[in-house]
Amino acid sequence: MKIGIIGAGFVGLSMGTVLASKGHEVVLIDIDKAKVEKINSGEAPFYEPGLDELLRKHAGKNLKASTGYEALKNCEIIFICVGTPSKQDGSVDLSYVKDACEKLAEILKETGYVLIVIKSTVVPTSTEKEFIPILEKSGKKAGKDFGVCMNPEFLKEGTAIRDFLEQDRIVIGALDEKSGNMLERFYRENFPSSPIVRVDLRTAEMIKYASNAFLATKISFINEIGNICKKLNIDVYKVVEGMKYDPRIGGHFLNAGIGFGGSCLPKDVRALIKFAEKLGEEPKLLKSVIEINEKQPERLIEIAKKRVGELKGRKVAVLGLAFKSGTSDLRETRALPLITKLLEEGAEVIVYDPVAKLPDELNGSVKIANSLKEAVEEAEIIKIATDWEHFRELEKMKECLEGKIIFEGRRIFDEKPYGLEIEGICW
Ligand code: UGA
Repeated sequence: MKIGIIGAGFVGLSMGTVLASKGHEVVLIDIDKAKVEKINSGEAPFYEPGLDELLRKHAGKNLKASTGYEALKNCEIIFICVGTPSKQDGSVDLSYVKDACEKLAEILKETGYVLIVIKSTVVPTSTEKEFIPILEKSGKKAGKDFGVCMNPEFLKEGTAIRDFLEQDRIVIGALDEKSGNMLERFYRENFPSSPIVRVDLRTAEMIKYASNAFLATKISFINEIGNICKKLNIDVYKVVEGMKYDPRIGGHFLNAGIGFGGSCLPKDVRALIKFAEKLGEEPKLLKSVIEINEKQPERLIEIAKKRVGELKGRKVAVLGLAFKSGTSDLRETRALPLITKLLEEGAEVIVYDPVAKLPDELNGSVKIANSLKEAVEEAEIIKIATDWEHFRELEKMKECLEGKIIFEGRRIFDEKPYGLEIEGICW
């Protein structure tokens, strides 16, 4: 099948390479010329495990990238996977999706029936109220001359390829029966073991927001419990251990720590808050989820101050910049507010991350260490901001850690290794 994908970000590109590996002819469209060239030369434009290998196999063969929408002609299904960033006020910015629809409308004028699938995260009713009217500028009628579906993605950075190959569920929101049946057939043929949920367009849009908001809520919930546990000298991870066998609770996504970051959870919760407010609702719980998250990095500072006093002039190593392990992505990482606050406190900050690069705004104000050892050797106080497995090697660096305290914002050590002084943010 000839498949078009607009937007070669981590969702579009991961999905495109997987579909190419299943034998489809894939056309990727992106406005970024440099990215397009990289993809066509078989190189991944960002770090995502497994992506390089698939690109090397399929780029220039059955996967081609282009900046021009003409390449989408003759596609049977076109997925829109462009970003939906936040506006200044936290609401969702739909302009990239609208722009893609404008350009697609031109293509629609010259094509037969094609199914257009919105994969970008968009607030409920966007497809009906915003995108379909733009697509219909082509003079063609949605649901008759072309199909429309909303099909949210549930991929995680760092495991996007595997997540797409083994989707835990496929949600298909359809404008009409024919569109939904066409997408369902496509997924059944390619991913026969994934359950499919059929709904209407706006329900599919809400499923995505509700899923991310729920995940964020779980994290803020356990962080709040963890903050209480800390006061009582209780290990919140042991508390979860005792909760997780209840099938109504489960044990996933209850890792307490410095809070959630990334390009999705914070952005989507804020967008849902704004959207709910526009509808006249007061989303108290969601607001608290964000508030708790924003305060967590400060807590890592507080516990250190309680233990070692003022941080002014003290050398502090921050281990980890990425918003989570397995990625170089810094978007909304909790490491940044932590570093900013440390600098405000007058600390001298040394930063180390095995993959992520220091953002420009911190250039000159912090020192970069080239290795874990270098970071901890220089510092008096150590703070862990990302859950890199690699940080377990601290266990082997006891000689440089003598008299120093490691403050964990992410749980690295379940058992405190003998000879290391460790204190957790909420355990
Ligand atoms: C998230 C969702 O998990 C995906 O299902 C969704 O498809 C994606 O957003 C999206 O909307 O595109 P992602 O942003 O890649 O995926 O990262 P997560 O693995 O969810 O982690 C988000 C943040 O929460 C990280 O900072 C992580 O360290 C933190 N986290 C996660 C915790 O603090 N505790 C946990 O128990 C789990």
